[in-house]
Amino acid sequence: MSTVNYELIGDIGVIRLNNPPVNALSHGLREGIWGAIKSAQEDASEALILLCEGRTFIAGADITEFGKPPQAPMLSEVITEIENSHKPVIAAIHGTALGGGFEVALACHYRCALKSAKVGLPEVKLGLLPGAGGTQRTPRLAGVSAALELITSGNPISAAKAESMKLIDRVISDDLLKGALAFARELINRKAPVRRVRDIHIDPASIPEGLFDEFRQRLNKRARGQLAPQHIVTCIEAATQLPFDKGLAKELDLFIECLLSDQSAALRHMFFAERSATKIKGLAKDTPTREINSVGIIGGGTMGGGIAMNFANANIPVKLVEINQAAIDRSLAVIDKNYSISMKKGKLSEAQKTRSLSLITGTADYAELADVDLVIEAVFESMELKQDVFARLDQICKPGAILATNTSYQDIDQIAAVTNRPEDIIGLHFFSPANVMKLLEVVRGSKSTDTVIATAMQLAKTIKKVPVLAGNCYGFIGNRMLRPYAREAQLCLLEGATPEQIDTVMQSWGMAMGPIAVGDLAGLDIGYKARQGLSKAEKGDSKTYCIADALVEMGRLGQKTGAGYYRYDSETRARSNDPEVLAVIKAQAEAHGVERREIPDEEILNRLIFALINEGARILEDGIAQRPSDIDVVYAYGYGFPPHRGGPMYYADRIGLKKVYDTICTFRDLHGEAYWAPSPLLARLAQEGRTFANWVDDQS
Ligand code: 3HC
Ligand code: NAI
Repeated sequence: MSTVNYELIGDIGVIRLNNPPVNALSHGLREGIWGAIKSAQEDASEALILLCEGRTFIAGADITEFGKPPQAPMLSEVITEIENSHKPVIAAIHGTALGGGFEVALACHYRCALKSAKVGLPEVKLGLLPGAGGTQRTPRLAGVSAALELITSGNPISAAKAESMKLIDRVISDDLLKGALAFARELINRKAPVRRVRDIHIDPASIPEGLFDEFRQRLNKRARGQLAPQHIVTCIEAATQLPFDKGLAKELDLFIECLLSDQSAALRHMFFAERSATKIKGLAKDTPTREINSVGIIGGGTMGGGIAMNFANANIPVKLVEINQAAIDRSLAVIDKNYSISMKKGKLSEAQKTRSLSLITGTADYAELADVDLVIEAVFESMELKQDVFARLDQICKPGAILATNTSYQDIDQIAAVTNRPEDIIGLHFFSPANVMKLLEVVRGSKSTDTVIATAMQLAKTIKKVPVLAGNCYGFIGNRMLRPYAREAQLCLLEGATPEQIDTVMQSWGMAMGPIAVGDLAGLDIGYKARQGLSKAEKGDSKTYCIADALVEMGRLGQKTGAGYYRYDSETRARSNDPEVLAVIKAQAEAHGVERREIPDEEILNRLIFALINEGARILEDGIAQRPSDIDVVYAYGYGFPPHRGGPMYYADRIGLKKVYDTICTFRDLHGEAYWAPSPLLARLAQEGRTFANWVDDQS
């Protein structure tokens, strides 16, 4: 079938688009739509329907074409052709009408959609703004406030919501073509005019005073340092002040500025990185998977409870195993409370909460796991305990059940070794809070089978996580890289920085939180306890943990005790600097013979980020990550790395590996080989003038 087909059904012309997988507006599709609309002006049709084959209506511009020389007809020309049609054009939407796809629909004179369809303008998530009239037409139909909300959030909305916002005229319950034909018939019968959105006038009196400034300020907080959200506000404001064509011209100017920006390039990289992370090298596309219809979770603490919620939300029943009834009750109460918080925020209905809670049952009896398809262990981080749990599971669980551990650091193979089914053992490393964080590291043991890996990757999609495959090593991808990052934060503290300086530098650069504040949030006692189990040699250089240890020994465990590196207000949780901490830092520096100095912000940034990059390069050398972009996904989805900087490996490519390598060599000369020996891969690529991205091409 060709990309665009035209058929006359009675006196209604049906234009069918077919550009798998998502009907993106590639050159061929644009040309086809343009031609079909033009020629239909001359035939016997009274109205035209634009509809798509396959899984979705047009999902947007073809992102792979960005950055390549543009080919006519441009999307804006296609859209003008549609809007200029002298016969009514009706968009018939199923799946997702997104970005340029929704802009095509907005240029049609009428829009109908299946009940299950979603529409939206997600360009902001790619560092862009709708560049084909979306910022001009949406406020004309839905009003200015609603348009600001929709376009700056980028989140799609349901057909019903879109209908209530006047963005859709008719919601269809079953057969889309049948419903669209009936709608077209109605329009023909009542001689409905071509209704062009561009002709709608926005009444200035309908705009609440100060609305645009209020949005700009809100976005300054929510999307700090990002270009596209601010430009979207400017475009929508222009729609209220300028004639349509001038507003369109403004939109195009700002769209191009966004398209050429580093931020959009980074976000587009993240879009494709997330998708390529789901592809496992050496694993056939048709690798069989196992059905996961029931899950057991061992340990209902911080992680286990959150993990359970993911499955319940996906309608998969969960048996939560705890040590005794009191622990079960505590765990279920926390889950209940978390659902109530979501309800209060309007993210969940009472009925959804009741349904999810009914899917989670607590037990202290491992025997109840005999029939489950998957078990995830989330008990304390102790090899001995985990081995004990897995030996028991091996006795109880049915053959073919997948047994997973949520361990942060432990060796998956050592855990698998206590079972008679090491091929069914895998790591499923969730991030805290597990019901919120999108990342799932799928850790491959040396004996995990392809089926088990493929099942885990598929399962991630079911529970709406972003999976990344990691090899088995201490800390896998994310936590292994976190160590040198945290080490440098500690050393900067000792050498002269303050907690506030470090956090401000990292947060202003874009990290969701600074590393010191993260420590307080997670609890300083966690690392402290882990260190207690290690020998002096294993603990390593005391300069990298002496401050944290001193604070814990003073009872300052972080936010939970109202004090850690900072002091926290008991009611508002607002943090403030504490001279007592500075005294601790100074005393530790003195005890370690470190002379404190002013540390420039740039040094802090480079030491922390380049430590991440160097370890990331080693992870690639060791084959722990499949590709550099997988590391970027781990850091953006699991560790608050700013997506508009594209992840640490992409960022390294952008600033140039030679610069990264030279700076690391300077740090090595200043601080020693132990921490700053450059990764051989980084050294080689820097010398060859290459990037991590083009190194990938050698590997495939
Ligand atoms: N351009 C090019 N390729 C695209 C694409 C697009 N707009 N959208 C999706 N794809 C590709 C994906 O890369 C993937 O390729 P792969 O199989 O080779 O990895 C394939 O289509 C399937 O995509 P998903 O795996 O994401 O499929 P899902 O079914 O999970 O999701 C979707 C479908 C909701 C449509 C999702 O792909 C999506 O959100 N796409 C992007 C939508 C978007 O951002 N549109 C705006 C584009 S910018 C724009 O329109 C500018 C305009 O204003 C001028
Ligand atoms: P936690 O201390 O909050 O919870 C552990 C739970 O396991 C407790 O409720 C305890 O009663 C229960 N438990 C202990 N032994 C048990 C047994 N034999 N049978 C059944 N239940 C048992 O610990 P947390 O933070 O949830 O960590 C669990 C695991 O997840 C650890 O391996 C940790 O490294 C890992 N992890 C933790 C993250 C975090 O941020 N807290 C993030 C990612 C992984």
